[in-house]
Amino acid sequence: MHPVELKGPRVSWRELAVADAQDMHDLMSDPQVFRYMSDTEVPEVAAYEAFLIEYCATITEPERIRYKLALTLDGELIGSGGVDLSPSGRKSEIGYMLASRHWGKGLATEAAALLVDFCLDTLGTHRVWATTDVTNHASRRVLAKVGLREEGVMRGYSFKDDVWHDSVMHGMVATDERPLRG
Ligand SMILES: CC(C)(COP(=O)(O)OP(=O)(O)OC[C@H]1O[C@@H](n2cnc3c(N)ncnc32)[C@H](O)[C@@H]1OP(=O)(O)O)[C@@H](O)C(=O)NCCC(=O)NCCS
Repeated sequence: MHPVELKGPRVSWRELAVADAQDMHDLMSDPQVFRYMSDTEVPEVAAYEAFLIEYCATITEPERIRYKLALTLDGELIGSGGVDLSPSGRKSEIGYMLASRHWGKGLATEAAALLVDFCLDTLGTHRVWATTDVTNHASRRVLAKVGLREEGVMRGYSFKDDVWHDSVMHGMVATDERPLRG
């Protein structure tokens, strides 16, 4: 589906646009935000622009499987995230990042809840999942609060800064009880 617009009490998700390249670069340039990203280097603005041009050309495809979204507060881009569908379209992976100046206000929890509800209610996926580095306690807590259970530790799941890192698999299925929102 296209275009995606998800509104919470405070934050909203909208489609990422080519014009967001500079804001995305600035967001990822914060080492606290970049720490758990899989990329090894923060993409330059031009590289991000090129990626977005290529990506935005795919978002109207009927069999869309990537949803890369901008998180906004009062119209300002304060984070990013999205959903990747499995090839079958029945399972979805969510991800998110938030500018560190906004941490600790529950905004990431609100944003993650919007993604989970989008996956289950709009995309109709049966399973929603996410992975976190075992040391990413804030994100582990966010996922627990929106209803994703910790299903196990995957050893040596990601490689960054010359080190293998363990990750936690978090999941929720459509029949699970959903925590109350708000
Ligand atoms: C993960 C992230 C989005 C969380 O943002 P946030 O603003 O802290 O999230 P919230 O305020 O909604 O909730 C954070 C929860 O984690 C808890 N928390 C934060 N730091 C913690 C820590 N070091 N140990 C344990 N719990 C922690 C908070 O207390 C809060 O839980 P509570 O409401 O029960 O008190 C933010 O840290 C981020 O963008 N990190 C970089 C990118 C990233 O890691 N993305 C996720 C990849 S899986």
